Amino acid sequence: MTGQHLLLGQVLRFDGTPFADIGAARHIRRGAVLVVDGRIADHGDADALCAAHPQATRHDYGAGLITAGFVDAHVHYPQTAIIASWGKRLIDWLNTYTFPEEMRFGDPDVAAEIAARYLDLTLSHGTTTACSYCTIHPESVDAFFTAAQARGLRALAGKTCMDRNAPDGLRDTAQGAYDDSRALLNRWHGVDRLSYVITPRFSPTSTPEQLDALGALWAEHPDCLMQTHLSEQVDEVEWVHDLFPEARDYLDTYERFGLLGPGAVFGHAIHLTGRERARLKDTGASLIHCPTSNTFIGSGLFDMDGLMAEGQRIGLATDTGGGSSFSMLRTMAAAYEVAQLMGRALHPAELYWLATAGSAQALRLDEKIGNIANGLEADLIVLDLASTPAIAQRAARADDIWEALFPTIMMGDDRAIRQVWIGGVPRG
Ligand code: GUN
Ligand code: ZN
Repeated sequence: MTGQHLLLGQVLRFDGTPFADIGAARHIRRGAVLVVDGRIADHGDADALCAAHPQATRHDYGAGLITAGFVDAHVHYPQTAIIASWGKRLIDWLNTYTFPEEMRFGDPDVAAEIAARYLDLTLSHGTTTACSYCTIHPESVDAFFTAAQARGLRALAGKTCMDRNAPDGLRDTAQGAYDDSRALLNRWHGVDRLSYVITPRFSPTSTPEQLDALGALWAEHPDCLMQTHLSEQVDEVEWVHDLFPEARDYLDTYERFGLLGPGAVFGHAIHLTGRERARLKDTGASLIHCPTSNTFIGSGLFDMDGLMAEGQRIGLATDTGGGSSFSMLRTMAAAYEVAQLMGRALHPAELYWLATAGSAQALRLDEKIGNIANGLEADLIVLDLASTPAIAQRAARADDIWEALFPTIMMGDDRAIRQVWIGGVPRG
């Protein structure tokens, strides 16, 4: 559906980051968003926009809250079917649940079925962009991008490269990782709304030769993002020290192979040294907070306040299926709880910014998605702020938008997602 649409309801958007100024969050009680040919053409007061655009098709959501769709900055779509697997910490969890499941993705039919399942699940939870790891198999990347393309989504993904410390059938080589990644990049990067992401899984599963080869590929394609994992669990950090005795720290195992810079996206980033924090900041890399995963796998508490204060670029993610939910609402709730344990209550505006504009910025897509601003792509959601009896009775007592929104952040799920718009098209 192209043409002109006027979405009417409450509107929430950001003029900047609420971590610097809470006033950057802008709420209009009776607002409107004008969508023209897939982009946001205007936004503001409902009466004024209705008068100015009588020709636009109206979609009146009443008290529904219109915002940007959620941007999930770190997921593993192949782990969809093993989410909520019991009782293991990171390395055992990978060996017990993850690697056997990822083995199945050499079959294009399996990959296509799970990619479709993943995207339909996350869309129903209001996520309009995900940045996904795939598996070692090029077929798994083709399946994800094909499914995202069919749904008109902006999506990011890459082949997950591993050439050691992984089982037979789940390892490539340094040259194979370079060749496969380059071929996939050439096939998909910049096609429709899709971006290829160079993806070494993490330094324990890559030899120095493979990291070097992927660093070379990134140098040849600096407009791509590079994603990997960094300092998730203490045991993992110690293992990295054993595997790379010459490295100064975990980050250095990437830095020395050209895998650090603007466009580097590091998942978890919990147990960081002072040097690592300084280098991440100076190079313009992004850190992705995965709070449900960090509690579920027992990894640790992300230092949101300290890292924000030093000016790091930070996004938010479910980390499906190490994370225990597909919902960015549940993920915001976990981010709130983790920050509370660190002594800081994140404001609802900060949480919502992280799940939308912050993640878009971390993926260097903030000029395309993640906010309501003229010219951005119209990936929008409409929230029902009274989606369950428990939420409704609390929201009924609210004096302002933040008190009305916070119960949905803390207790909401896919039932709170009333409508999703993808590139100016309402879904379903
Ligand atoms: N570190 C390396 N691979 C993974 C993964 O699949 N999930 C999580 N949470 N951490 C990882
Ligand atoms: Zn991950």
